[in-house]
Amino acid sequence: MTLVLDAERLSRRFGDLRAVSDVSLQVRRGELHAVIGPNGAGKSTLVNLLSGELAPDSGRIRIDGTDVTGWPNWRLARAGIGRSFQRSNVMEAMTVLENVRLAAQAVLVPRRHLLRPAADDPVSLHAAIMVLLRVGLADVAGRIAATLSHGELRLLEIAIALAVQPRVLLLDEPLAGMGPEESQRLARLLHELARDHAVLLIEQNIDVVFAVADTLTVMLDGRVLERGPPARIRNSAAVREAYPDHDP
Ligand SMILES: Nc1ncnc2c1ncn2[C@@H]1O[C@H](COP(=O)(O)OP(=O)(O)OP(=O)(O)O)[C@@H](O)[C@H]1O
Ligand SMILES: [Mg+2]
Repeated sequence: MTLVLDAERLSRRFGDLRAVSDVSLQVRRGELHAVIGPNGAGKSTLVNLLSGELAPDSGRIRIDGTDVTGWPNWRLARAGIGRSFQRSNVMEAMTVLENVRLAAQAVLVPRRHLLRPAADDPVSLHAAIMVLLRVGLADVAGRIAATLSHGELRLLEIAIALAVQPRVLLLDEPLAGMGPEESQRLARLLHELARDHAVLLIEQNIDVVFAVADTLTVMLDGRVLERGPPARIRNSAAVREAYPDHDP
């Protein structure tokens, strides 16, 4: 499988706190790589480094072999990074379709054309419709985002991340607050998306993680504690310690 995302020894401090410390990680196309770990382990900070929301203090990030270290988020989006946020990125007053189209437009339309009205751009409209079909939100495309169920909103977050036609999908706790049925639906979608994307999934729902991940990284205090296929991590002492209530 083609190596798409290659992060090498990333570190980031906030004052004296080492939020991410010497973390290396690779994700291939067709692979779902999940990162788990307790609150404050540094998972979201890692995603923020990979998506360009934050710059690393040290380390390298490569996408398809190109060194993209220090690139801002909009440039990384154009290089193939799509992400969802742990806290919502949805514009609640706009329709589902407009949310996705706006995200598509920011990346697919040449920057010199960005001041044209979105409604005039067929490329981003087409991209948005394809994405809504894929995540199963086409039926609610015309609804105002604020009226969606919690589960539909989380799907919209993923649709927004997909709108940029990314090669790498960074998903920060997409299942947070979902019921069991919605979680299963989303788990299936994640599994499908991993066929033609490199997916990095941050997730607390450990049952879903074990079901869909090809590779697991366990983080603690900003560091990588363990890494390997789910079958091995499931029984590791590190995971038993981090998730005492989990029954493997
Ligand atoms: N912008 C910031 N400024 C200062 N400290 C921060 C900032 N962002 C994160 N931190 C701190 O860095 C550490 C790692 O936070 P991070 O959000 O990456 O953890 P996490 O693994 O995503 O946790 P959670 O499971 O709660 O989402 C925490 O101690 C957090 O308080
Ligand atoms: Mg987080």
